[in-house]
Amino acid sequence: MRELHGAAVLITGGASGIGAAFARAVTARGARVVLADLDEAAGETVAAELGGRFVRTDVRRPEDLAAAVAATEEAYGRLDLVHLNAGLGSGMTLGEDFDPERYRLLVDANVHGVVFGVHAALPALRRAGGGAIVATASLSGLTPFPGDPLYAASKHAVVGLVRSLAESLAADGITITALCPGFTDTPLVAPFAGAFRAAGFPLLTAEEVADAALAAVDGGGSGEAWVVQPGRTAEPYRFRGVPGPAEHQAPPESVRSGDGVR
Ligand SMILES: NC(=O)c1ccc[n+]([C@@H]2O[C@H](COP(=O)([O-])OP(=O)(O)OC[C@H]3O[C@@H](n4cnc5c(N)ncnc54)[C@H](O)[C@@H]3O)[C@@H](O)[C@H]2O)c1
Repeated sequence: MRELHGAAVLITGGASGIGAAFARAVTARGARVVLADLDEAAGETVAAELGGRFVRTDVRRPEDLAAAVAATEEAYGRLDLVHLNAGLGSGMTLGEDFDPERYRLLVDANVHGVVFGVHAALPALRRAGGGAIVATASLSGLTPFPGDPLYAASKHAVVGLVRSLAESLAADGITITALCPGFTDTPLVAPFAGAFRAAGFPLLTAEEVADAALAAVDGGGSGEAWVVQPGRTAEPYRFRGVPGPAEHQAPPESVRSGDGVR
């Protein structure tokens, strides 16, 4: 189990749902939190409840994520754990309802928000002597989601990013995990909550997803995609039929480093 007492934790999308539940879960283990979110009212409320800080952050802006990391170090002197969790759905197809602007907003938040977050956090995590990053992807980062294919594409990107970064971060003692929950009872799915209930479709609670994120951090693995589903113990997805990092046939060093392809 990772020691979280006194740890400094930065959570994007921490004002609501899964991020707020994660903030409560780490605070219960003695960590100190900074919540980074667009929603100032909700963020300030959760921060006050937990004795933490709120920093208004738009994860689509790299400078906002750099400021959130700086605010965490300023408040607590360090950064140990980052939950890159802010995200949203698109609610559209590639048919007549497709709106390129909304698509860009989705990718900006769901993909670029994680990329900018990792980039901003790495120097601080290194200064702390190592740490952990959890990126909230989704079950639809592993499986098809015909209901929102663009959302699924953005979450697949997060899973691919996490799996690809793990090896290079290991040298600095930094782990990275993709969290892949199924449908969870948060404001994000509130418009469909009645339909889920009517169909007898079980939803996860945000607390169950937060517990799974902590189990992943405690497990100490890296490059894993943790599947979280109702009634099942959360665990890393076992990719089959494709080479995993360990059994990957190593390409030449020039290709691995990029020297041979630039
Ligand atoms: N609820 C689900 O069924 C479900 C399932 C799998 C994955 N997820 C993922 O979990 C994450 C959290 O979602 P949730 O269900 O808790 O939803 P939520 O709507 O309760 O919380 C999302 C939070 O992210 C914030 N946010 C959105 N865009 C932002 C931006 N650009 N900058 C900063 N903050 C921003 C919102 O203000 C909100 O507080 C998302 O990445 C979502 O895709 C949700």
